[in-house]
Amino acid sequence: MDLTKVDAIIENYDGDATSLLAIMQDVQDQENYLPREAVNHISAKLDVPVSRIYSMATFFESFHLEPRGKHICTVCMGTACHVRGAQRLVEHLERDLKVKSGGTTEDLQFTLEEVNCVGACALGPLVIIDGEYHGNVTSTRLTRAVKKLKASEGGE
Ligand code: FES
Repeated sequence: MDLTKVDAIIENYDGDATSLLAIMQDVQDQENYLPREAVNHISAKLDVPVSRIYSMATFFESFHLEPRGKHICTVCMGTACHVRGAQRLVEHLERDLKVKSGGTTEDLQFTLEEVNCVGACALGPLVIIDGEYHGNVTSTRLTRAVKKLKASEGGE
């Protein structure tokens, strides 16, 4: 990643090591994961051991240490969504995106994930695409949403 972006984030927090968690979060928000070179850079800049950053990243499950796609598709697999066909939606997205659930496409455009109930059961089955909730979603609507994203990236 461009480390000047990491510098800018650190600068936003006045280089204050007590803001480590927020800095890590902001880096992840930009990259969708916490790249190793960013961790090393933060460590050097804030004089915080790399091991501490990794232990925080592991403790807070919201951090991702492996590359994730630019677009994140998350299918809710909680009970309410599951009984309304969430598994079929996962399989549909696996075919559409050509990636297994839990994986990221080779071009780093899409990550397909599953999550347990996100508390919007009445909308099930629910798929979250780049943070936007799609309720009562169908395979057709998913295909349309994926096509739109691909088109916006200059793909199909
Ligand atoms: S089961 Fe999917 S939102 Fe609750």
